[in-house]
Amino acid sequence: MSVVAVANQKGGVGKTTTTVNLAAAAAEMGRRTLVIDADAQANATSALGADASGAHIYDALLGEIPLKQCIVPTAWAALDVAPSSMDLVAAELELAGQPQREYVLRGALSAVAETYDLVLIDCGPSLGLMTLNALVASDAAIAPVQCEYLALEGLSALLETIRRVQMHLHPGLQLLGVVATMYDGRTRLSQDVAAQLRSHISSTFDTIIPRSIRLSEAPSHQRPIIDYAPRSRGAEAYRELAGELLVRLSELPSSSLYANRVGDGALT
Ligand SMILES: Nc1ncnc2c1ncn2[C@@H]1O[C@H](COP(=O)(O)OP(=O)(O)OP(=O)(O)O)[C@@H](O)[C@H]1O
Ligand SMILES: [Mg+2]
Repeated sequence: MSVVAVANQKGGVGKTTTTVNLAAAAAEMGRRTLVIDADAQANATSALGADASGAHIYDALLGEIPLKQCIVPTAWAALDVAPSSMDLVAAELELAGQPQREYVLRGALSAVAETYDLVLIDCGPSLGLMTLNALVASDAAIAPVQCEYLALEGLSALLETIRRVQMHLHPGLQLLGVVATMYDGRTRLSQDVAAQLRSHISSTFDTIIPRSIRLSEAPSHQRPIIDYAPRSRGAEAYRELAGELLVRLSELPSSSLYANRVGDGALT
């Protein structure tokens, strides 16, 4: 099992869109995939139409149930969700007083290591305790960055957090790459930001996610883009990004946090 946090403390940059659509594309490629909704806004939960009427990730983090017990299936094969709710705000406060508080999600995830090939964690727009838990539980992080003015400035806080996590909590954490999102090829600004990303951050993914009405519509239909508009540019982009992600994961050093890493050969 490989675990990837999708993180950027800047709001509205495409974290949730990237998480759900990458997850759906990976599931389509045969990877048993779990989305962990680590954001109290619960946008990933609703974008996949996941049933949030039962237990939530909150209950698992507080140790009231095993993680497995809050996981729900989706309408798509090989794609499950650990749903979130506003309760997660309270969980963050309650966890704050606990010893080893940054390692709670990692502990919960180890029990599903045999069940999934890939776990994607949708982080909220903060660098608080939930995001730290996500990073500490992850083999790697990816950072969506919106192709707009000041995109790079926000990124430095995230890169600094990742460095601090590597130094103090989880030396093996890798920054797998930065994803340029909401790219509008007609604007000079989008072109400039994408070019700047490439020149400043060598791990920038080759795939660029275009700005697309289809991508913004899909969540309200509770469907990932590869189902809502399978031939759209957005669907093609997320399929391509999933391919790149799986290749990069298979190239990581072999000291994975969990057994059965993507690329270990045990996959169909
Ligand atoms: N490539 C895209 N083209 C068009 N709209 C997009 C694209 N990516 C995301 N959006 C839209 O932009 C908004 C923000 O995207 P999203 O929710 O994925 O960001 P986020 O980083 O998860 O936000 P938050 O920080 O609040 O969790 C949403 O309305 C989403 O539908
Ligand atoms: Mg989000």
